[in-house]
Amino acid sequence: MGRLVVQITLFGLLLALATTLPNKDDWDIYSFHINSTVTSRYATTVITSRVANRINESKEIEFHVQIPKNAFISRFRMFIDGQVYDGVVKAKEQAQQQYDRAVSRGESAGIVSSVGRTMEEFKTSVNVAGHKKITFELTYEELMKRTHGKYELQIHARPMQPVKDFKVDVYIHEKAGIRFIDVKGGLSTKDLANAITKIHADNQAWINFYPTVDQQKTCNRCGEQGMNGDLVIVYDVNRDSSLGDIKESDGYFVHHFAPSNLQRIPKNVVFVIDQSGSMSGRKIEQTRAALLHILNDLAEEDYFGLISFDSQLFHWKRELVQANSQNLDSAKTFVERIQDRGATDINRAVLEGARMLNANPREGSASILILLTDGDPTTGVTNREEIQSNVRRAIAEKFPLYCLGFGFDVNFEFLEKMSLQNNGAARRIYEDSDADLQLTGFYEEVATPLLTDVTMIYAGGTNLTQTNFSQYYNGSEIVVAGQITNNDIETFSPEVVAISRSTRVTFNNTNGSVMSTATESDGLIQRVWAYLTVKQLLGKELRLSGPEKDKAKKEALELSLKYNFVTPLTSMVVTKPEGDNPDVLHKPKEGRKAAERGFAGHAGSQSRLRGFGGGGTPSQKSLSIGYGYARSPLFPGPPGPPGPPRSSGYSGLDQQRTHGGKRFGLLRPAAAPVVHRFLLKTENQSKPLCFDFTGAALLKLFHLPSREMYVNGELESRKNGGFKKIFMHFQNDHHVEVYPHKVTVRVGQTVTHHTGQDFITAGSVTMIKRDAEVYVTAGDVHILVLVHQKGGRHFLWPVLRQEPSVGDPDGILALNDADYEEVQQTPITKLKMKDQEIVVSSDTADDYSSVPPVTVRCWFMSADSALQRPPSDFFVSQL
Ligand SMILES: *[C@@H]1O[C@H](CO)[C@@H](O)[C@H](O)[C@H]1NC(C)=O
Ligand SMILES: *[C@@H]1O[C@H](CO)[C@@H](O)[C@H](O)[C@H]1NC(C)=O
Ligand SMILES: *[C@@H]1O[C@H](CO)[C@@H](O)[C@H](O)[C@H]1NC(C)=O
Ligand SMILES: *[C@@H]1O[C@H](CO)[C@@H](O)[C@H](O)[C@H]1NC(C)=O
Ligand SMILES: *[C@@H]1O[C@H](CO)[C@@H](O)[C@H](O)[C@H]1NC(C)=O
Ligand SMILES: *[C@@H]1O[C@H](CO)[C@@H](O)[C@H](O)[C@H]1NC(C)=O
Ligand SMILES: *[C@@H]1O[C@H](CO)[C@@H](O)[C@H](O)[C@H]1NC(C)=O
Ligand SMILES: *[C@@H]1O[C@H](CO)[C@@H](O)[C@H](O)[C@H]1NC(C)=O
Repeated sequence: MGRLVVQITLFGLLLALATTLPNKDDWDIYSFHINSTVTSRYATTVITSRVANRINESKEIEFHVQIPKNAFISRFRMFIDGQVYDGVVKAKEQAQQQYDRAVSRGESAGIVSSVGRTMEEFKTSVNVAGHKKITFELTYEELMKRTHGKYELQIHARPMQPVKDFKVDVYIHEKAGIRFIDVKGGLSTKDLANAITKIHADNQAWINFYPTVDQQKTCNRCGEQGMNGDLVIVYDVNRDSSLGDIKESDGYFVHHFAPSNLQRIPKNVVFVIDQSGSMSGRKIEQTRAALLHILNDLAEEDYFGLISFDSQLFHWKRELVQANSQNLDSAKTFVERIQDRGATDINRAVLEGARMLNANPREGSASILILLTDGDPTTGVTNREEIQSNVRRAIAEKFPLYCLGFGFDVNFEFLEKMSLQNNGAARRIYEDSDADLQLTGFYEEVATPLLTDVTMIYAGGTNLTQTNFSQYYNGSEIVVAGQITNNDIETFSPEVVAISRSTRVTFNNTNGSVMSTATESDGLIQRVWAYLTVKQLLGKELRLSGPEKDKAKKEALELSLKYNFVTPLTSMVVTKPEGDNPDVLHKPKEGRKAAERGFAGHAGSQSRLRGFGGGGTPSQKSLSIGYGYARSPLFPGPPGPPGPPRSSGYSGLDQQRTHGGKRFGLLRPAAAPVVHRFLLKTENQSKPLCFDFTGAALLKLFHLPSREMYVNGELESRKNGGFKKIFMHFQNDHHVEVYPHKVTVRVGQTVTHHTGQDFITAGSVTMIKRDAEVYVTAGDVHILVLVHQKGGRHFLWPVLRQEPSVGDPDGILALNDADYEEVQQTPITKLKMKDQEIVVSSDTADDYSSVPPVTVRCWFMSADSALQRPPSDFFVSQL
């Protein structure tokens, strides 16, 4: 069990782990180096870990690091016993085949890779013979992005044990000169201060971090397992020339444009705020707090509008008004009264925001539309493409749309696409105690427009990245890269034309001193160009459709392969010594919550998982379980439809004992047993089926023996309950026990309890606990357990969010969609299922697979008929 790793993360904030892990003593990380070189804001980081197997038998040794989300991995290699094993970047489909083959042999072939706020994980393991050594070397590259007037290089240090030779070396070289440089992050504390050295000399800086073994054990974020935290290098460059920095090398150039000596432009901003029911509680409070803060920040020359929406729109004022103190006070009162309620009509709300901006144009100002939502469109126009095309038409490129997706129930890709189609950007707001700061932080990025209609012109340049930008904000930066035609610098002439407060301004190279030529030709500028081009092509691929989309995808793939970048279109296949399976590394996507984006076979990375509510995607199993009560308080259950007796074959407690072989302490024989209503969705959106299980029962939810995966649930025995426990077992010694208020994770002898928001990875299993849900992924199987509340009691509801790519699962969550035909409508309704005619009645069920639950109409029938199998097939004798 060398691959045992337990990691606890508190949504981006990494905590030291208290438990001691076994096995790790078997190997010794005797050297761990992180070497980061930044030139022209392009950071190349190499992590090198050298490990010795201390025992005399072969051991699985793991390499597990975190890298920034924005980075592309460009190289991974292992040195074992004089041999080099290089990871190879391949088109995703190709790599997938390799992965599938391994999976179909029942082998775990995945590198779990999940995403936090700013970092994602890279993990692999390999068998190393007794007393042998191995070196892992990972390289990743990223173009630093300037926000709030600075760049941040984040380095995550968590070698997993104290390391004798531990080093972080950062070297920064910026031709323009480094204006300031600071070291921040969780590892930049007093007790480690003497381990950090910083040398800053004009246009170069060196940061070294060499903590001793003792420091690695005793520092604030350290423990028996050594360090666990971040170093964040924060810096900015001098900006004396208004045209900015242009660097050229080998026929490629990169231009950083960030003039700061400009006047701010008055802005017209409309905030469109989702107040649907799902925003209730802390989210709406934080939104109010952030809005109040933002209102305080508006300048008197700004105009603004506020709309809150659910299924209806609520205007503060129908038109934009000036941000004077009287209006601001009135707006604050409006903000304080925003209440959560109702459904989500995104279409209507965004169109109204666009109308307000269109109706109030002001010469020399910058208009901005900001949407904040935490869910999918659920009412009004709900077809996403229709919303996108409506919005695009309404905005007509006149101003940018920024979409803030609050939490993980939003379809982030929908928001991202919509904002990219309208010159904006989407940002995820993580549901956490600092959500209001994230909101205001985002707002501050766009709070000070300095230029509009920025056109970057490069006579003598070709193959340029994006050159038109609708707005430029103080503290940010515009970066353009390209090729110099025929590598002829003489004819190359950059110029920027833009509008600053109604005045057309030109920035050009009158000075003749902006161009700097790299002395060494290391292909770096070319890589910057490739990085930026791939990023933008991926954005295009998302934004466009039809042949243009395919073209963007094809180009992005070609470049990714050429430059060896692990992007969403490519994967890295890590070959290993004979006898070990290859690992396939996918870049996780910013789409849904951490684990869902985790490495997860083909379905996880290619098909998008939807938020709650509304129909499913093919990757989401459509059996959802609803819950119903006996309308008559007395056994047996609801008034029945005509036709077969509902509880045929098994009835409540006795049957339960027979099938379950187990008595439940909570069963009170005197009480009327509760009826649990289940909903079986259908393939083609026709009316779903529903059926009842009576009494408490231990149900088989999802069994996949080929992967040693068993998920069972215990139904509540009292009213108001769905499931009271759901237990998951993986590979014999990984267990996740979910209760309404707690999750217990057992890995071998290690037991951890989780009551608050938490995140734990153990082998290929990841568990994420949030306020009202628990998300568990095991390889490509993703199970979501929702915690619902009814009448003050909490109960659990399981949803299969992603099926395994291979294997033949059994259990209630693995049922296929129902398929039926209505053969008779009056006087009684009969459905034909698999050559059998079944009499049904129309009834309702609560669909607890969505949040909040929705009541749906369904055809009621017996469990036997609905399941097409004896219900006892779905009972187990123990959790
Ligand atoms: C870090 O990497 C750079 C570039 O590969 C190399 O020149 C430098 O020597 C390395 N520094 C250390 C301390 O290894
Ligand atoms: C490993 O070492 C132990 C004691 O050091 C010894 O008993 C055992 O036989 C060795 N195993 C092998 C495979 O050499
Ligand atoms: C832009 O930001 C800088 C600091 O980051 C500040 O000094 C400057 O005044 C700002 N410019 C405007 C127009 O607000
Ligand atoms: C642009 O890039 C493509 C692909 O890298 C290359 O084939 C082409 O020659 C470049 N165009 C010019 C004008 O250099
Ligand atoms: C960029 O803007 C200029 C002038 O505003 C326009 O002529 C040009 O077509 C635009 N280019 C792109 C690629 O949109
Ligand atoms: C540079 O811009 C100024 C206007 O700001 C213009 O008068 C001048 O002709 C431009 N020079 C070149 C070389 O384009
Ligand atoms: C020319 O460059 C120097 C230093 O690089 C700078 O101080 C000066 O302001 C620049 N002049 C113009 C017109 O950009
Ligand atoms: C879909 O629904 C229709 C009626 O709504 C039904 O006739 C048909 O059999 C259903 N199943 C499939 C697979 O189309």
